[in-house]
Amino acid sequence: MIEKEKIKFSLIIGDLLDSDKKRLSELIRKENSQSILAKQSENIIFDYLDVVIKSNYLKLFCLRYNNEIIAYAITSIKPKYLISEFQNLKAKIFFSLLLDFKITTLLNIMFSILNIDLILLNKQNLIKVRENLNLNLIAVDSKYQSKGVGSLFIQKIKSHYKELEETKYMICETYDQRAIKFYLDKCGFKLIGKKLRIPKNLHILEYEFE
Ligand SMILES: CC(C)(COP(=O)(O)OP(=O)(O)OC[C@H]1O[C@@H](n2cnc3c(N)ncnc32)[C@H](O)[C@@H]1OP(=O)(O)O)[C@@H](O)C(=O)NCCC(=O)NCCS
Repeated sequence: MIEKEKIKFSLIIGDLLDSDKKRLSELIRKENSQSILAKQSENIIFDYLDVVIKSNYLKLFCLRYNNEIIAYAITSIKPKYLISEFQNLKAKIFFSLLLDFKITTLLNIMFSILNIDLILLNKQNLIKVRENLNLNLIAVDSKYQSKGVGSLFIQKIKSHYKELEETKYMICETYDQRAIKFYLDKCGFKLIGKKLRIPKNLHILEYEFE
């Protein structure tokens, strides 16, 4: 049993302890194993986290329970910053993927950089995806999944942005059918289309702020 009132929500800004970086790297690799980030070395993941917590456009949110990080999420106020903010890391990530022969991942990155990946969307949704908040990564430690922690986390993130009035929609993307069910059934999102990816397209979901 988890005591929800003891869960602490925070936005990490500026600095992060090495022990927290290690814990986040563990969560990324374990729970978001399909992501490009999860396939990188620990040093690259640490550098990535440093960029996020220093950025004006990206945010790192965490949930702690008994002082341990049990969930994290990364958002970008517009998806373009997920590329532009990592200028210095791009080459490192590119070569690590090349050395590992991750050709499909490199092609998918090219689709994204060249904006080819949004061709399956109608004009209205294309603008929506480009101009609104992107929930890039989210994970709850498997020990705590299916206990309402993920929906509580999304609720806190929604409240954070609702207060700022910076965005009308929150957009997220996933391949995972269980995650789609989570967003649709527990978090009030709806499916709006697909992003072109090899070998399987990504599902795009939106949440509209009232
Ligand atoms: C998706 C996720 C954040 C949901 O967090 P959670 O704490 O399990 O969420 P809640 O307890 O509020 O809701 C549970 C629902 O989420 C879905 N879910 C549960 N485990 C899941 C998993 N491993 N992966 C995806 N969805 C899951 C199910 O629909 C579940 O409903 P159920 O408990 O009635 O079966 C979490 O399961 C997770 O970290 N999954 C792995 C990473 C991931 O898929 N991230 C999303 C894409 S970036």
